[in-house]
Amino acid sequence: MMNAAILGCGTIGSGVYEVIERNQKEIREACGQEIRVKRILDLRQFPGQPFEKLVTPDIKDIVEDPEIDIVVETMGGTKPAYEFVKSCLLAGKHVTTSNKALVAAHGTDLLETAREMHRNFFFEASVGGGIPLIRTLYTGYAGQEIEEITGILNGTTNYILTKMSREGSEFADVLKEAQQLGYAERNPEADVEGYDTCRKIAILASLVTDREIDYQKIHTEGITKIEPVDFRYAESLHASIRLVGSMVRARDGISLLVAPELIPEESPLCGVSDVFNGVLIRGNTLGVTMLYGAGAGKLPTASAVVADIIEIAKHREENVPFGWHEGALSPMPLEKRKGRFFVRVSGSGRESEGMASAALGGAKILHLDGEKEFGLLTGEMTEEAYAEAAARVPGIVKMIRAAV
Ligand code: HSE
Repeated sequence: MMNAAILGCGTIGSGVYEVIERNQKEIREACGQEIRVKRILDLRQFPGQPFEKLVTPDIKDIVEDPEIDIVVETMGGTKPAYEFVKSCLLAGKHVTTSNKALVAAHGTDLLETAREMHRNFFFEASVGGGIPLIRTLYTGYAGQEIEEITGILNGTTNYILTKMSREGSEFADVLKEAQQLGYAERNPEADVEGYDTCRKIAILASLVTDREIDYQKIHTEGITKIEPVDFRYAESLHASIRLVGSMVRARDGISLLVAPELIPEESPLCGVSDVFNGVLIRGNTLGVTMLYGAGAGKLPTASAVVADIIEIAKHREENVPFGWHEGALSPMPLEKRKGRFFVRVSGSGRESEGMASAALGGAKILHLDGEKEFGLLTGEMTEEAYAEAAARVPGIVKMIRAAV
């Protein structure tokens, strides 16, 4: 038998307790032993809950308990999660976390500590919720050179964008509704500004490059400026708009970007709707695959944590080769990234369309009924060339990158 402790009894932490209780038989069969939750760290009390007696407000009750083998961190944030996780690893415990902020900020250090201690630091649940994305990358796609990862990695923003696209509603209205339904946090900044996706793509890129990637160096744009009219243009291009985190291995380095993009209707990513996540992975001999599923939510995310617990139970006394090593890798400067750009330009008439088209090397001009503006889709160019050309075009009201 192995004893686990859960740090933080919020949505995910209580979900982990529930999955361990509910799936005891399956877990025992998978790892050959019983997993029991011995302690739960939380400052709150939970009268009437089945785990009421396990709750402690003191981390020492976990760090100093030699019977606790596995620690599940589901507190979120980095303070005090980092300090707690580090102490647990140094005390010889294995750790699994669902906390992408912790992994993105301190992953290198915590992976190294786990290696030194012959323990494991796993974080399957930190990216893609219930989708076995991280395990697929380090086991299923071991031996691949991963050339590209393009992912819809945030359920909240995907819900908002798909709803805006279907109903023609404004961002602020859909956000409010998502908050009422509990899909969006009361403070939605991390999701809608793209910070959550940024941390997730940084973790995936670190895994496949074996190098630490500083998420703060990834150019990140959110979805707060997306308007209903943008979806009408997208529709005229047989596309939709999604918030995408991408990593592409280019000749000059690793290109990383988080931004809303026009995605063609025929792309499987365009079929990823509502709170779901979907990730396209291209390997040099694998070709393209896509993983799809519940990227957030209590029980899907808790199920990923439990998969880590089972992996830990199978490797009780050894460190499984996993994660990345030290040696920071800076993303390629954004200016060098190549792509197509969709722009909206105010005004109309042959002269301004001609000017914009000439400056941007416009491949396609688009008109929508009733709008005093026009759209333009460029050919492939670098971000630097786009920025230089766009500076010469008066009246650009919006630019959205286009994977069409
Ligand atoms: N806020 C995140 C999302 C939770 O909406 O996807 C899962 O990481």
